[in-house]
Amino acid sequence: MAEIGMHRTRWIVDMKICCIGAGYVGGPTMAMIAKQCPEIQVHVVDLNESRIAAWNSSQLPVYEPGLDEVVREARDRNLFFSCKVDSAIAEADIIFISVNTPTKAFGQGAGRAANLEFVEKCARQIARVSKGHKIIVEKSTVPVRTAAAVRQILASEANNATFDVLSNPEFLAEGTAVADLLQPDRVLIGGDGASAVEKLADIYARWVPRERILTTNLWSSELSKLTANAFLAQRVSSINSISALCEATGADVDEVARAIGSDSRIGPKFLKASVGFGGSCFQKDILNLVYLCEHFGLPEVAHYWEQVVLMNQYQKSRFSRQIASSMNNTLSDKKIAIWGFAFKKDTNDTRETPAIDVCIDLIGERARLAIYDPQVDAKTIMHDLRKALAERGRQGELDWLVDHVQVVEDPYVAADQAQAVAVLTEWDQFRSIDPGRLSDRMVGPKLIFDGRRVIDADRMNRAGLSVYRIGQGFRWAHTASSGA
Ligand code: UDX
Ligand code: UDX
Repeated sequence: MAEIGMHRTRWIVDMKICCIGAGYVGGPTMAMIAKQCPEIQVHVVDLNESRIAAWNSSQLPVYEPGLDEVVREARDRNLFFSCKVDSAIAEADIIFISVNTPTKAFGQGAGRAANLEFVEKCARQIARVSKGHKIIVEKSTVPVRTAAAVRQILASEANNATFDVLSNPEFLAEGTAVADLLQPDRVLIGGDGASAVEKLADIYARWVPRERILTTNLWSSELSKLTANAFLAQRVSSINSISALCEATGADVDEVARAIGSDSRIGPKFLKASVGFGGSCFQKDILNLVYLCEHFGLPEVAHYWEQVVLMNQYQKSRFSRQIASSMNNTLSDKKIAIWGFAFKKDTNDTRETPAIDVCIDLIGERARLAIYDPQVDAKTIMHDLRKALAERGRQGELDWLVDHVQVVEDPYVAADQAQAVAVLTEWDQFRSIDPGRLSDRMVGPKLIFDGRRVIDADRMNRAGLSVYRIGQGFRWAHTASSGA
């Protein structure tokens, strides 16, 4: 892996950037480039008019700590959001493709392969509109060798325009996007054209130390993104598999995580046991990796990585089963409060959130749910649950959803008359819940199922609440008769 030369700092004047896709990745990434490089014009375009309107308003479509300030500083100075895709492409020197690449829902590779429809559409549009020379940057996570397909489309449809195609995967995590963009562990640029690679590297070098800007060939860069997400998800599935064993043996998963994480070869990060990983990337990218392995005739490698996803599914359903079995296997008409719906704290994103699976399981048991999340609105939650029921062929339960699932704006209100609380996102506010106030609201048996290990079991126990924590099992209330 080469490093870009340390001593060249090129000041890029009059450069124009276009980014197609104003999503969780495109929006924050471009805002950071615009903030750090005031002399570069950055134009973010999207087909979705309401999303663009939100980027131009005071209520950004993406909730990220610190993002408002970054956008405020650059917007209308050198950062612009619009739906004028053709003109933004025509004017740009560098075009980032940051559209979504969901798992294919139909055809060959359905349920596993990435749907590249939007990436290809962008390539065609770029080819049609472009003149002169342009650098095309794949920001979206794509299967290995997608750049070859993009190149082919550009070559076959372009009118005399020429292109360099680079891969520049984004490693930011939601909830910490601004910090990750400000101080990335590394920026990865894959490409064959040295001058194009250097141009892109020069932009990042405005705020990222040169030694953190890594360059590789195109295929290594594309594969590194899938591999990084697979390794991260694998750590979560590994510790989650051990959490089940901890509950069976009396070990505590946090103690195990601390003990193994102190080994510098293992390291302490990404060892938090949870109800399961979510988010738009982990499952999609692993399935994509699995599909690639199968495609290249490597079934053993495919099976190995598939286990990471299967373990995650097991962990989510294990959590729901724990709730049911702790309540006499009868949840019918019992009220359960759901605390947290986002796939992790500090984001309003609910894509692949474990909360969807757990809620759908509980609805299947005919539990009544009151859901609270500080950042996800009621419309999104109900839409996600309706969609999940439909995808599972369970439209017959839509009436139950409408009549017995509500979204509320306060965690204590959610717990009102509830027999149990399930904590599904690690929002900080759940760490400082008042046990007495909560206990007063709830009715017996007053159970808390902590899928994120944020609840202080001792304090809850003293207030008459029993707590199940993932990877630790039950801590019974001092007053509880059952198993104290
Ligand atoms: C996306 C990919 O899903 C991910 O694999 C990649 O790493 C980065 O880009 P994200 O930004 O989270 O991630 O996706 P999303 O929030 O769905 O944003 C994509 C945007 O592209 C949407 O706003 C969508 O309207 C827009 N889009 C999609 C277009 O403008 N044109 C299209 O043809 C398709
Ligand atoms: C991930 C990668 O971290 C990022 O580099 C990539 O660009 C996109 O995918 P993201 O999905 O935004 O980012 O969040 P991340 O912090 O990785 O968390 C993913 C899921 O794993 C969340 O549901 C989180 O709660 C869960 N998780 C993470 C755990 O359960 N335990 C952990 O120790 C860490």
